[in-house]
Amino acid sequence: MKYFLDSAKINEIREAYETFGIDGVTTNPNHIMNSGKPFKTVLGELADFVKEKGIEGWERFPISVEINPHLNDADEMVAMAKDISSLCPNFVIKIPCTLAGITAAKRLEEIGIRTNLTLVFTASQALIAAKNNSLFVSPFIGWKETSGEECTQYIQDIVDIYSNYGFLNKTQIICAAVRTGKQFVDCAVAGADIVTAGLQVFKDSFYHPFTDYGLAKFQAAWDKTII
Ligand code: E4P
Repeated sequence: MKYFLDSAKINEIREAYETFGIDGVTTNPNHIMNSGKPFKTVLGELADFVKEKGIEGWERFPISVEINPHLNDADEMVAMAKDISSLCPNFVIKIPCTLAGITAAKRLEEIGIRTNLTLVFTASQALIAAKNNSLFVSPFIGWKETSGEECTQYIQDIVDIYSNYGFLNKTQIICAAVRTGKQFVDCAVAGADIVTAGLQVFKDSFYHPFTDYGLAKFQAAWDKTII
C-alpha cells in the first residue's frame, strides 16, 4: 500500500519523504490556506521539490492539486485543470465528485490530464470515477467515521467492485482523511492502493510505547554487560 502525505507544507513534505518514504502528495484548498502561502507559490515549491529529488512525472510521484472549489461548470473546470497541469508534470487534478466534476474529469482523462475524483462518500460515486477512467478516487474515511459511519465495509465494497469489473490498477483507491493507525490497517486489509494522511497521523500510527519500554530495558542490560 502506498503512502501519500496530505499537506501543502513543503517542510512537512520533505520530512515525510525522508522519514516515511512517501509515494506522493495530496493537497486541497484547506491545506493550501494552512500553508500561509499563495496558491501559485505553493505550486512552484512543489514543482521545485520534484525537480530537486529527481522524481518528475505523475507516474513517479503524483501530487494532487484541487481546482477552484467554486467552479460548477465543466468547461471552466477543464480550463483551470489545464492551467494547473501545465505547471508541473507531477500534478494530478483533483475534481469534486459533482455532475459537472465527473463530466470535466472524463474530458480531462480523454486528453491525457490525470484526475483524482475527490469528496467521494459512497461506493456508487467511486464506481463512476472508475468508469470515467480517473487515475485516482478518494473515498473519505475520517469524515464518515467522525459522523458515526463504519468504513471498513465501505472500502471493501469499492475494492470488490473494482475487482469485479477490472478497474483495479486502472483507478487507484486513495483512502483519504485517514486519522488513525487502525484505519491504516483496515485500508490495507481491504486491499486499498493508497492511504493519505497528515504527518502527525503517520507519526502517531507508527509509535508504540512498548518500543520505548523495550529499548530502555535493553539499554539497562547493555550497561550491566561486559563488552
Ligand atoms: C484528501 O485527499 C483530502 O485532502 C483530505 O484527506 C481531506 O481531509 P482532511 O483535510 O480533513 O484530512
